[in-house]
Amino acid sequence: MTDPGGRVEELADALTREEKVSLVHGAVDPERTATGYLPGVERLDIPELKLVDGPLGVRVPGQSATAFPASIALAATFNLELAERQGVAMGREAKARGQHSILGPGLNLIRVPHCGRNFEYYSEDPVLTADLAAAVVKGVQSEDVIATPKHYVANNQETKRLRVSAETSERALRELYLPGFRAAVEAGAGSVMTSYNRVNGTYMSDHRRLLTDVLKGEWGFDGYVVSDWFGTNSVAGSANAGLDLEMPGITFEELKDAFQMDPDTDLFEDADGEALPGPDAKAGLFAASLEEAVESGDVPESRLDDMVARILRQMERIGLFDGERDEGAVDTPEHRSLAETIAARATVLLENDGVLPLDANADVAILGPGAEDAMLGGGGSSEVESAHETPTLDGIRARSEGTVEYAQGVAKIRTPSFFDHESEEEPETGDDEPSLDEAVERAAEADVAVVVVRDANSEAEDRESLRLPGEQDELVAAVAEANDRTVVLVQSGGPVEMPWREDVAAVAVAWYPGQADGDAVASVLYGDVDAAGRLPVTFAPEGSYPANTEERFPGVDYEARYDEDVFVGYRHFDAAESDPTYPFGHGRSYAEFAYGDASMADESTVEVGVENVSERDGREVVQAYVAAPAVDGIDRPRRELAGYAAVELAAGESTTVSVSLNELAFQRYDEDGGWTTDEGEYTVELGRSSRDVRTETNVSQ
Ligand code: BGC
Repeated sequence: MTDPGGRVEELADALTREEKVSLVHGAVDPERTATGYLPGVERLDIPELKLVDGPLGVRVPGQSATAFPASIALAATFNLELAERQGVAMGREAKARGQHSILGPGLNLIRVPHCGRNFEYYSEDPVLTADLAAAVVKGVQSEDVIATPKHYVANNQETKRLRVSAETSERALRELYLPGFRAAVEAGAGSVMTSYNRVNGTYMSDHRRLLTDVLKGEWGFDGYVVSDWFGTNSVAGSANAGLDLEMPGITFEELKDAFQMDPDTDLFEDADGEALPGPDAKAGLFAASLEEAVESGDVPESRLDDMVARILRQMERIGLFDGERDEGAVDTPEHRSLAETIAARATVLLENDGVLPLDANADVAILGPGAEDAMLGGGGSSEVESAHETPTLDGIRARSEGTVEYAQGVAKIRTPSFFDHESEEEPETGDDEPSLDEAVERAAEADVAVVVVRDANSEAEDRESLRLPGEQDELVAAVAEANDRTVVLVQSGGPVEMPWREDVAAVAVAWYPGQADGDAVASVLYGDVDAAGRLPVTFAPEGSYPANTEERFPGVDYEARYDEDVFVGYRHFDAAESDPTYPFGHGRSYAEFAYGDASMADESTVEVGVENVSERDGREVVQAYVAAPAVDGIDRPRRELAGYAAVELAAGESTTVSVSLNELAFQRYDEDGGWTTDEGEYTVELGRSSRDVRTETNVSQ
């Protein structure tokens, strides 16, 4: 643990107990820019500390920032360099807005496709999640800003999130839910946020084993653990369990006022109408009684000292005591272009009968309720106010050399918001009432019809169905009937069902592309860049996902049974031998690639020859999966992602691609023996998706 010059120790010695307590809970930010605020201690020149949301960009009320694509989109790039660059950019923007810590990345594993916050998370796979989380953390912290990976741990649903207990095996925790956090900690994360939920009956803010034994003990985390907002459930219990900082430390009314939130927002209402204790029962717990708890010996003084030291050390590390930090920068041309690059690279081409890429001269009809407004994200604490945004319609208009006609077709889909009261109102009707017939007419007249559809997700609620909301399915079906060159562009926070998918010429998923929406999508649709996104989650019919009983999701009596154990996402579909609609890792390219033989270059690197056998330049994401040898009595996934590497190949070009393999794919967690690597021969499969294996090799352990 670093304390260069012994300053932290010196300060900690000089603080009174009251001052120490003031450093471990939030207060009202006089400037009202921070999501969480620590006032510092003037007497000792300890400066203030400002924490800001969140994973998709920096959210300061009334101030703009780059609205990056959703985290799930970043994951679809399978590109760690872009992830790190996004971290750097967000770090710079946080600094420019006077903030010291970012409340992100969000990295809960995508267990259920319905989770309203999946767009803030990365993947159903722990290796991909861990890699991205580590890259973003590294990027953020390279700018002297503290990253806060969240929500630790098993916060995999929004329904009853304040109370639900994830009833899970140690093996599933270790193999699926914890690796992302571990990687973020190993990447140097200065802070970790606890989740609202319970794990096996204990609130995470009170979970001594997971906070103190695992996070701080096994993984050596020396930063501070911060509660989710109003997610502290006890005073001595949480302090002794390892919670270091209570947020926000103010009442919900004060918070709504500071954040310019809709005054009617009640995030703490239970869906069943049952009264919950919070939020104000969970506001200001440490301020009210931590000092007393230390006084009485319920919380050892040494624990309070440790809480304070952990926070001061991070402040020291980012240069808050020396004033060494630069000013950062917001909305720079570099950040704008990065947001566009990520959005373009994230776009996953699910189907293409050859209609894409579009001919620049084609006459295009743009249809659908998603075309006129850029899709920035879902509702909740991750909402970002962008300085400028390009809707799909504008991006295509700017790129097309033919005619571009537009018809909305069906009613707009409201993107939920915590912050904008206006958007709660129904869209205006009257003269602008959308007409399905008009959309069909436009489609029939055009060379190509592009239908832009979207879902609507939000923090604090889960999706009721995987179908697109409103009458969007009807719109797509009608347009497809009128024009056999129909392209559907899906803006979604996770998997959606597409009942019309076999009746259209192409389908692409743009996720929530952020402010660069139209520019990014135009560059992919017109083939200026290859379609390079790959699915970080399986797309499948609603009932076929593993958490398909009430007991498993959303749970009964505040308990969600993680009975599927480690068989989440593609691990489940492989074990069930059922064919998903689009498998994990899937994504078509405009080019075509042939795979040669694979061989192990060393014990953790596999090499494979890849050739672009098409007449277009392209970008391939080579994926490596490991299949473990059978061991009696142990159910192992059929294959597990171990690594991946993207390669740009010109038409006709070939190369040897090296993929380094993550040790997680070789190990299993044994409830008795801990991490175990079974001896035997492992198959390393290489290919284009979890279901499109092109070649394989073996390695012994
Ligand atoms: C969310 C966190 C967020 C915090 C502060 C909570 O409701 O779960 O992700 O960082 O609010 O806005």
